[in-house]
Amino acid sequence: MAGVIDYRLASSSDETYLKSAIEAAYHEYPRLIALGGATLDLAVENVLERIAEEGFAHVALQDAKIVGAAWWTPDDNGSELSVAYYVEQEVRKQGVATGLLEAGLTEARKRGVVATTVKTHPDNLASIALARKLGFEPVVSLLRQDLR
Ligand SMILES: CC(C)(COP(=O)(O)OP(=O)(O)OC[C@H]1O[C@@H](n2cnc3c(N)ncnc32)[C@H](O)[C@@H]1OP(=O)(O)O)[C@@H](O)C(=O)NCCC(=O)NCCS
Repeated sequence: MAGVIDYRLASSSDETYLKSAIEAAYHEYPRLIALGGATLDLAVENVLERIAEEGFAHVALQDAKIVGAAWWTPDDNGSELSVAYYVEQEVRKQGVATGLLEAGLTEARKRGVVATTVKTHPDNLASIALARKLGFEPVVSLLRQDLR
């Protein structure tokens, strides 16, 4: 385990970290941006807006330093929350994302959210294993071709 990790709801003072985490998650899996047809900057701004308006985020802290985050945003039909996450390389595979998702699932239930989804790349075995461990189940496999 990664020493003592604290989890708390993100506030506006965490926006810089959240922005870098969202960017970093997209950088590791760039085809997720192509899906929405957006540039990286626009995609990140869009996620930040949706967190602030109708979603929420948690940050994970080790010795007062943020080492990861998970952010929950309304999905396309607006009735469910979709979650994405990023954990710093040096503390991966030590349960940090598990803690972030457990905290987020508790918060989502408290808010009366009835279902949540994870949209992740099929090659992202870590993300898929994490989500399966936390109770998410596959619903659809989406294949896409860019015709430009
Ligand atoms: C996906 C990610 C958040 C996992 O964070 P983490 O803190 O390392 O995850 P945890 O330590 O809580 O691991 C939880 C489970 O995920 C699985 N897992 C984690 N890393 C894995 C890897 N590299 N390969 C396979 N499974 C992995 C394991 O099943 C693990 O459960 P276990 O420890 O009981 O075996 C991290 O790898 C990451 O930040 N990746 C880049 C960003 C990203 O891909 N985000 C997804 C966009 S939706």
